[in-house]
Amino acid sequence: MLITTLLFSALWRLARAAQPGAAQPVAAPMRELSWGQLNFLHTTDSHGWLGGHLQEPQYSADWGDYVSFAEHMRRKADEKGVDLIVIDTGDRVEGNGLYDASSPKGLFTYDIFREQTIDVLCSGNHELYKADAADREHNTTVPNFKENYIASNLDYLDDNTGVLVPMAQRYRKFRTKNLGLEIVTFGFLFNFDKNANNTVVQRVEDTIREEWFQKVLREEKPDVFVVTGHVGLRMPESRAIFEAIRKQHWFAPILFFGGHVHVRDARRFDDKSYGIASGRYMETIGWASVDGIGKRTEDDEVAGVRGSVSFSRRYIDNNLYGLYHHTGLNESTFPTPRGQGVSEMIDRARVSLGLDYKLGCAPRDLWVSRAKYPGEGSMYTWIENEVLPDVVVRQDRKDKPRLIITNTGALRFDIFKGPFTKDNTYLVFPFTSKFRYIPDVPYQVAKKVLPLINRAGPVFQASLDTQFLNVPEAMASKKYFVATDDEDGSDEGSFFELKGPESAQRPLGGVEAETAMSVPTPQLLAGYTTEDDMGTDGDDTERSPIKMYAVPNCVQAEVGFPEEDGRPDKVDLVFIDFTQPWIIPALKFSGGDYSDADVEQWDHETLTYKVGEWIRKNWDGDC
Ligand SMILES: *[C@@H]1O[C@H](CO)[C@@H](O)[C@H](O)[C@H]1NC(C)=O
Ligand SMILES: *[C@@H]1O[C@H](CO)[C@@H](O)[C@H](O)[C@H]1NC(C)=O
Ligand SMILES: *[C@@H]1O[C@H](CO)[C@@H](O)[C@H](O)[C@H]1NC(C)=O
Repeated sequence: MLITTLLFSALWRLARAAQPGAAQPVAAPMRELSWGQLNFLHTTDSHGWLGGHLQEPQYSADWGDYVSFAEHMRRKADEKGVDLIVIDTGDRVEGNGLYDASSPKGLFTYDIFREQTIDVLCSGNHELYKADAADREHNTTVPNFKENYIASNLDYLDDNTGVLVPMAQRYRKFRTKNLGLEIVTFGFLFNFDKNANNTVVQRVEDTIREEWFQKVLREEKPDVFVVTGHVGLRMPESRAIFEAIRKQHWFAPILFFGGHVHVRDARRFDDKSYGIASGRYMETIGWASVDGIGKRTEDDEVAGVRGSVSFSRRYIDNNLYGLYHHTGLNESTFPTPRGQGVSEMIDRARVSLGLDYKLGCAPRDLWVSRAKYPGEGSMYTWIENEVLPDVVVRQDRKDKPRLIITNTGALRFDIFKGPFTKDNTYLVFPFTSKFRYIPDVPYQVAKKVLPLINRAGPVFQASLDTQFLNVPEAMASKKYFVATDDEDGSDEGSFFELKGPESAQRPLGGVEAETAMSVPTPQLLAGYTTEDDMGTDGDDTERSPIKMYAVPNCVQAEVGFPEEDGRPDKVDLVFIDFTQPWIIPALKFSGGDYSDADVEQWDHETLTYKVGEWIRKNWDGDC
């Protein structure tokens, strides 16, 4: 019996794509992909989500399915006589149990990731926070992808030799397979300075003045420039790169593939230059296609290649319904042997890491930005009111009132009502942050810290941008959000509504549903309804829009305050270690003469561990 079950489940695991237990995709109205001379698949900020989103049908396909998809799309490109280029723009690590739960981290993910054929990739900031992750980037990812890895402004300090070397080559020149178009490509990282000391990130503005970069611009005459970067399309770094290239190549098509800000976006720089950013967490596979690229000759340089480039983009929801749709295949014809092999690698890794182990049952949904803060549905209200007071406790200081501060960016993903697994702990709390504290701070001083950090006033130097404390989505251009309330201090909080196309309101099935008499009209699933420089038809699937609420940089719990007047003389100021560079200047500004030397370790447990234990004790019901 046991053997039959095992056999059956093994067969079942083999027979399908996506991860076992992943939510089944749901049918929805689709928009088609258009093909051009050059076509691109783009992932960014995957943060270890190679297993897909097991709880969300919109994004439930896994990296193996993406491998199958890319194989089919390459074949289609060959059939059409055009080219397909696959790109990844970094932040592959941190944010999912598949990467974070192993020791060392990423024990399985590097091998899984390399199974995709990627033509151009670069580093994100998350590859560089920890020295060992940067080491693995240099000793694993770079060799896995060889000349396809580009590091235009990133150096690596080799521990053995003590020599600073480029993390990978600075740029790459190659010809496409079918059309023979010549591409010069770069790989940038935004001006990041929170990296461990074994890498050096050069400011983009300095890199583009470097002799090697200027020499490339002088000497190369490619048919198209492809700028990949772990850089938001609307960050000043992207503009600077665009201008540097455009200054010397008036008529060359320049394509950007951006990341970091976790949003779907497309930007038009001019009529020959466009860019796409493809979201986060393997929710999105970006598709871009370009026509109007001519072979460049010396004459073009003088006369200019007339006519503009036509650019089209789609944000593909990463689920099997859509991947079947775009390839014209089905559950028996879609999975390739290689793709299925990758799905199996992921499954085995998830099993050996025990990611499906259930810690408890979430009694309700808790949202990062889909519910108002403060409020019942807000993850941050929950952590502030319920979790921090319970888990940040020390026997020897339990009678001291305390303020406990965490940055909102430390909590990365929503919690869905129902089983809460080991995997979920890493999705929500991916970082290894611990608590530190300064004992006996006058309350009059300590109480000013949170408001200062949240208002992000002049206390902080430019290098201490408080955006690093917030969720990455907060860095997205407000152009895409409608502010319906300003920061007037009202308890409404500030709130942005993601604008969606009118058509997104239309129920699933549209025309067909009206003619098929007794078919009930299912709701559109909530999801992305993106508006970008090209309009409102970028998403490949029609979804109903989601309201997004801004969150403060940090939240704070008050614990052990006196009952009567609520104002203690002194408090322990406890905070997540990541926030220390902001805490100290805020204290100084508030009249507290404190420095790093006054900071002590609170205890040795990570926030991730503490919350896991809390959930075990407090969410022990049945799902
Ligand atoms: C790569 O770097 C990591 C982290 O420092 C180290 O543990 C590992 O042994 C290195 N691997 C190789 C192949 O050098
Ligand atoms: C880098 O930081 C580590 C850990 O803080 C330290 O041990 C090491 O000496 C530093 N190396 C350099 C070159 O500064
Ligand atoms: C999948 O497509 C193939 C080829 O068109 C067809 O023979 C097969 O019956 C389809 N399978 C399913 C499960 O729909």
